[in-house]
Amino acid sequence: MATAATSSNMPVLAALTTLLLLAVSSCHASPYYPLELGYYRYKSPQAESIVKAVMEKAIGENPGNGAAVIRMLFHDCFGCDASVLLDPTPFSPTPEKLSPPNNPSLRGFEVIDAIKHALEAACPGIVSCADIIAFAARDASFFLSAGKVGHFDMPAGRRDGTFSNASEPLKFLVPPTSNLTTLVASFAAKGMSPEDLVVLSGAHTVGRSHCSSFVSDRLDVPSDINAGPAGFLKRRCPAKPTKEDDGGAGCCDAE
Ligand code: HEM
Repeated sequence: MATAATSSNMPVLAALTTLLLLAVSSCHASPYYPLELGYYRYKSPQAESIVKAVMEKAIGENPGNGAAVIRMLFHDCFGCDASVLLDPTPFSPTPEKLSPPNNPSLRGFEVIDAIKHALEAACPGIVSCADIIAFAARDASFFLSAGKVGHFDMPAGRRDGTFSNASEPLKFLVPPTSNLTTLVASFAAKGMSPEDLVVLSGAHTVGRSHCSSFVSDRLDVPSDINAGPAGFLKRRCPAKPTKEDDGGAGCCDAE
């Protein structure tokens, strides 16, 4: 996998803040229940600080954990019900987790598990996994930016889904080969503007990508990518990545 460095550049940090706020507002769009600031203040007052402490440790061990949960919020928040976390069950045999936009590239599941574990010890059965993903992504922006993206309030009260279908992400998460028209249309379908698309795309300042996600149509063709980053990526990625050399053990963001 190619690894992108974490940037401390301010416009990008501003974009990261905005994208999280936009992700919050897309969660607000649920017609089923209102989200609320301080939702856990009586039932589990320490909930948000527990999430933050686990995220601090996880990002300290590997900054890629922060990128992972930011992407997870996006991939979950065309529903915001944590259905992206569900493993196959007889009731839900082909969940979103196995869908091409998520499998094998979505990661960070063990970070969410660690947070859930800590929360269950403190206040069993109270904090939804959907809220955990949202809090964790918010905290990731704080730690990845070394506090330059300040702590901001995150409304909560999301309910966890019990059913997950691999076909759902394919409807809303367009592939990296998409052209601008498709990208704009996919965001418009969720009530987001082209400006939202541009700002949210700033999230790609952090994290990593499998080579196969961009080599064939962006790197191994004439392109206007700056020579420096293009050269870096060409050294990391074979021209025709196979399953074996597309990433895997030994390659991580903490390098
Ligand atoms: C506009 C449509 C988008 C497309 C087509 C897209 C596509 C991708 C692809 C192909 C990857 C690399 C996956 C891999 O091969 O490992 C990726 C990574 C990532 N995306 Fe997006 N993305 C989009 C929007 C977003 C948005 C809106 C966010 C956040 C709000 C986001 C956050 C991230 C992050 C943080 C990573 C790095 C994940 C990691 O390091 O594990 N993306 N995206």
